Amino acid sequence: MKNNVTFTIVKPLALKMNYLGPILTKITENNFKIIALKMHYFSKEQACSFYGIHQGKPFFDGLIDFITSGPVVVAVLEKENAVEDYRTLIGSTNPAVAADGTIRKLYGIDIQQNAVHGSDSNENALIEAKFFFSDLEFFNY
Ligand code: RTP
Ligand code: MG
Repeated sequence: MKNNVTFTIVKPLALKMNYLGPILTKITENNFKIIALKMHYFSKEQACSFYGIHQGKPFFDGLIDFITSGPVVVAVLEKENAVEDYRTLIGSTNPAVAADGTIRKLYGIDIQQNAVHGSDSNENALIEAKFFFSDLEFFNY
């Protein structure tokens, strides 16, 4: 797979609040191509594995409870400079300090329930994409 992809999760509360449509619109309006997409319901085990890097941090248990609290939508997005551009589009981790117009500012509730995840490096984008999708589930058009 190419290096110009990032991986995102639309988190449980954003789905519950019916923000999936507006969030996907924001993504496509900003010239990201959706090349893989599906709903998923994290088991505790999967959540601990996906967020393994945060094990031991004070927010870890709350994060696992939150991300397993309901279904999510996972997607792989393609664009030149995808990882950095998507981090800019989603804004700071804490919606309260995220820039105006960013996805987290518009659709996030608090630092934990911040609407979406975005990969933090090209390497992690590929690891995360492959955590959820097989090679057969990526589309290029
Ligand atoms: P993400 O991985 O979801 O794109 O978010 P991020 O890089 O901006 O933030 P990160 O430090 O990787 O944290 C992962 C997720 O953990 C939750 N969190 N809660 N209560 C807290 O202080 C706290 N800090 C982080 C958020 O859901 C964050 O997105
Ligand atoms: Mg992160």
